[in-house]
Amino acid sequence: MELLGNNGKDRSSLKSLRVGFIGPGKMAKAILHGLTLDPEKKWLSNGVWVAGRSQRSLDLFVKGFDKESFQLTLDNSELVKNTELVFLCVKPFQAEAVLEQIKSLAEDKMIISVVAGLSLKKIKQIIPRCLVVRTMPNLACQIGKGIIPFALEKEDAQPNKGIMDLVHFILSPLGYPLPISEELMPAVTALTGCGPAYVCMLLIALIEKAKAYGFSEVQASQLIEDMAFGTVLLLKEMNKSPYTLLSEVKTPGGITEAAVQFLVRRGWEDILIEAIETANKKAEELESHL
Ligand SMILES: NC(=O)c1ccc[n+]([C@@H]2O[C@H](COP(=O)([O-])OP(=O)(O)OC[C@H]3O[C@@H](n4cnc5c(N)ncnc54)[C@H](OP(=O)(O)O)[C@@H]3O)[C@@H](O)[C@H]2O)c1
Repeated sequence: MELLGNNGKDRSSLKSLRVGFIGPGKMAKAILHGLTLDPEKKWLSNGVWVAGRSQRSLDLFVKGFDKESFQLTLDNSELVKNTELVFLCVKPFQAEAVLEQIKSLAEDKMIISVVAGLSLKKIKQIIPRCLVVRTMPNLACQIGKGIIPFALEKEDAQPNKGIMDLVHFILSPLGYPLPISEELMPAVTALTGCGPAYVCMLLIALIEKAKAYGFSEVQASQLIEDMAFGTVLLLKEMNKSPYTLLSEVKTPGGITEAAVQFLVRRGWEDILIEAIETANKKAEELESHL
């Protein structure tokens, strides 16, 4: 594969890499935003191809970007013909039809799939001679702070092939690429893919309570969002674990401890764990149906 010049170690071949997105939706846009953050990724300046099924979606997708940098098409095959690296960003039930459309042109190219439940095996069954990376990014990748678990077929993941390094290099502007075994994809889907939703639900509950206490909407959002931001930053900057910070905040016999004990008594953790297991089960079911 030309893309992998010198076992993936020669990055000069990446300068001429042409990138495309099939499926101009939320995830594709988040990835595009993330990729543009890295000034070194000169390959984005080669022009980015985007394929969708309606002109309206394509126009919405490039809104806010320099339109000159994009080639838009309603033909997925045209995109694949003109690119070496394709991000597959359609919904799970749309993916197989797209793969069938592009299969004859996608051989020897690299496909990075973000499609939940779509296995490496399934993609390889349709396009045997392509390099496939399966990922489960979350939306924070648009600011370069996503967790990007990714999996490759065992054979491609051999250290001597340099493919892992290359994938790391490509995904790193999006945040934190993390190689995992494919069996863990449903688990990371339930944990970090859905994770921003769990965090938002916690924030919403706190914001609503702040409003009920009489804070304005703006004040309530600032109070809660900045508190959450400061907490995570504290963990990161002081290299503390949440276990340590929790024990520091809840002084024995104090106000926080009373609230924490109430949450524990009411089974707060059990509810969250059940929600994660529900998501994990759904992700596994999706995998078995695709
Ligand atoms: N959103 C997340 O947080 C998240 C996280 C991790 C992974 N994912 C995965 O990312 C994928 C996309 O999710 P999303 O939230 O970005 O969905 P989305 O916003 O609905 O985007 C899907 C896009 O694909 C387009 N499309 C549908 N069929 C097509 C076809 N045949 N050819 C070309 N384009 C086609 C849709 O076009 P229209 O605009 O015309 O409908 C839409 O623009 C899913 O597989 C999901 O599992 C999402």
